[in-house]
Amino acid sequence: MTLAELLPSTGCSTEPVLEEGLWPDGTRLAGADLVIGGLPATQLAARFGTPCQVLDELTVRSRARQFVRALPEAEVVFAGKSLPCPEVYRWMAQEGLSLDVSSAGELALARAATVPASRIIMHGNVKTAEDLKAALEYGVSRIVVDSFDEIAQLGALARHGQQVMIRVTPGVDAHTHAAIATGVEDQKFGFSLASGAALEAILRVVEQPSLRLAGLHCHIGSQVRHVASYEETVRRMVGLIASCGVRLEQLDLGGGFCAPYLAGESGFDLAGFAHRIRVALNYECAVHRVPVPKVLIEPGRSIVANAGVTLYRVCTVKQGVSRTFVAVDGGMSDNPRPALYGAKYAVRLVGRGGRRRPVTVVGRHCEAGDVLAEDVLLPADVHAGDLLAVPATGAYHHALASNYNQVCRPPIIAVRDGVARPIVRRETEEDLLRRYV
Ligand code: LLP
Repeated sequence: MTLAELLPSTGCSTEPVLEEGLWPDGTRLAGADLVIGGLPATQLAARFGTPCQVLDELTVRSRARQFVRALPEAEVVFAGKSLPCPEVYRWMAQEGLSLDVSSAGELALARAATVPASRIIMHGNVKTAEDLKAALEYGVSRIVVDSFDEIAQLGALARHGQQVMIRVTPGVDAHTHAAIATGVEDQKFGFSLASGAALEAILRVVEQPSLRLAGLHCHIGSQVRHVASYEETVRRMVGLIASCGVRLEQLDLGGGFCAPYLAGESGFDLAGFAHRIRVALNYECAVHRVPVPKVLIEPGRSIVANAGVTLYRVCTVKQGVSRTFVAVDGGMSDNPRPALYGAKYAVRLVGRGGRRRPVTVVGRHCEAGDVLAEDVLLPADVHAGDLLAVPATGAYHHALASNYNQVCRPPIIAVRDGVARPIVRRETEEDLLRRYV
């Protein structure tokens, strides 16, 4: 039986209650409207236009605080690539988080946000000479080296005592999409633990008089659900710390903690993670007779994903042979994640209800693959001018956005206690033209 056939019997005549965990904290229904950060989505769309990303400041801050509270002994580092924006970096610093950047560009945003250098870590499997120089010039506290070439290059550029960490590939499968699985062997990130490259990297860093080895880093992937993958990572990393014969004070376990995108999906078990990581770390360190290193973690998605909601305006509805296409004023230029990772999203029509049926929500771009969500239930009479809201769009949306078809990128509107303010303004054609010579 198809979903459409099932519908009459389920009696879905109006929009159901809000899916738990997908929307920013405190989001509620007011009639058919959706109130985010104390403001009706219909008003936000009318005032700021569509497409538009709404970001709830208190949700971002509260998720950041949850990490700090769950692991008070750890250094919590916000993964700046998940939502590159000076205002968000500022919130994170105010909440006591450090920041990781993966390019001179992200570092420039961090500087604009006046994040102190002492709280910045630089990553990247490729850091150009410009990236490294920018990091050294600002004096970032740690640089995570990712190749033998980089160790030599940084050794030559750095002033005495630059702290570095070594990115290790621990060979742990995080059970996530291949494009975002970074802990397994034979991919471009880090030094393999199994092949001995990680040990060799430790020795090479120690040989560089200008570098000081602060510890080891790893990042097994993104949208990771199982705490067991991190436990296994701890075991392997402590094994390396014990066998390398060098005192290593810091162990960075990276980020990757999952966020819910669809109804029924649960968020990351942070309390379970904190407990099990602590137990595994203490046990392994005791077995290997090494001091317990300071732990670092680098959450990105789990802090910002569910704080974001994207608002789109329906532009046209078209009946295909077997499905109905609801086309909106955005698409893969503001959300390439369905095309890149097969990501799935929930969609809700805002402002009115009605008996629902499954439709396919597509974007405005010149590709058949520009699909935002398949088989989502919207009122059967969905039509041009309707407003759609898509939750869980706070992470890697602004970051991955493009100008495909020379479509201008949407703004980010921060909402808090009934006040809305743009923290990224809408891109204009003037912005587009500025680059052309
Ligand atoms: N640390 C390092 C070294 C990373 O490379 C990443 C993400 C993180 C931390 C944060 O991971 P998170 O907690 O946000 O999962 N564009 C993809 C995700 C790429 C993740 C890249 N690295 C997506 O949209 O799913």
